[in-house]
Amino acid sequence: MFKPVQIADGIYSVGCRDWDIRDFHGYSTYEGTSYNAFLVLDEKNVLIDTVKKEFAEELIDNISKIIDPSKIDMVISNHTEMDHSGSLPHVMHRIGQDKTVLCSSMGMKNLKSHFSRPLNLRSVANGEEINIGKRTLSFLETKMLHWPDSMFTYAKEDKILFSSDAFGQHYAGDCIFDDEIGDIVMDHAAKYYANILLNYSSRVQELLKSVAASGLEIKMICPDHGVIWRDNPGKIIGAYDRWSRQELSKKAVVIFDTMWSSTAKMAREIAKGIESLGVNVRLMNTRKCHRSDIMTEVLDTKALIVGSPTLNNGIFPVIADVMTYIKGLKPKNRLAASFGSYGWSGEAVKILNQEFEAMGMEIIDNGLKIQYVPDKDALEKCFEMGQKIGRKIIETTK
Ligand code: FEO
Repeated sequence: MFKPVQIADGIYSVGCRDWDIRDFHGYSTYEGTSYNAFLVLDEKNVLIDTVKKEFAEELIDNISKIIDPSKIDMVISNHTEMDHSGSLPHVMHRIGQDKTVLCSSMGMKNLKSHFSRPLNLRSVANGEEINIGKRTLSFLETKMLHWPDSMFTYAKEDKILFSSDAFGQHYAGDCIFDDEIGDIVMDHAAKYYANILLNYSSRVQELLKSVAASGLEIKMICPDHGVIWRDNPGKIIGAYDRWSRQELSKKAVVIFDTMWSSTAKMAREIAKGIESLGVNVRLMNTRKCHRSDIMTEVLDTKALIVGSPTLNNGIFPVIADVMTYIKGLKPKNRLAASFGSYGWSGEAVKILNQEFEAMGMEIIDNGLKIQYVPDKDALEKCFEMGQKIGRKIIETTK
């Protein structure tokens, strides 16, 4: 933002948009991202989160349009990762080095590990409340969403949840709120969940249960990336519930790379076989599709079918990249199968199956390997394998 936006009485969004970023530690951010920060004006003025280091002065400039930055009494650091805390030393220098920075106990440890300049850190306990005048702010530990230090801040009277990474989207368009951007926000949010939070799904489930049990009323959710959920915060909470339960659709994604088009031919025939049973399928060539877009497809997909030619007794490097990435994000309850063309040794299928086993996936078929170029019979085998996969998907999904 080049100017602050009032989101509630006395509460402003003062963060910055990063229009240029296209790679966020391995995640393709085609629409950039935003580093949201929030200014709460009360008897004590509070800044919730800061921004990436390069945007420090832009944040100060935005704050200055509302109050003199030196009038900020304290800063809350919900999360140490540098997209939210990189500018913290500079911001504290501008608002007053002695001002308090509130964070979780892990935040205290992690912030000290990142900055040599001393900060006046104070840790807050899970559930602790502070009074800043008309308002009460409370803190909720959200370990591993996305780092061990993560926490939420809740403005009790306003019923606003400042949720750090959770419920975010990497989006730097001209919309500030969910009702301005429209349904596309769910695509951005799904990609974000698949690539940042999927591996912490059990933590998300625990958190949603504890929030429901506490009866916390949420009128608005302000994440640190993307748009604010003011129209329908329940929509993103419901989506997080589904995604974290890993509820899967009757779908397959066929991920492949190819050397001389043979593995690509196999991929298409397998996809045809799956589709012939009325199961949705998506073909994703790893040379054309970014790993983070593949991961987004994986989010609600029951079956992962992976094809690789054999190269130097192994799998293709780009396939290894995608498999490593998927493995780290720990998708659960998936079916899997492998295939590939080979010249003389043909280890790729075996290696892919070992990877599926390591990921706890149910292997539908031992895998199909075809020497050199698939002929008519080989392509029929691919189609039949696709049908076998399709039948298994139908049997195992609602
Ligand atoms: Fe947006 Fe985990 O930082």
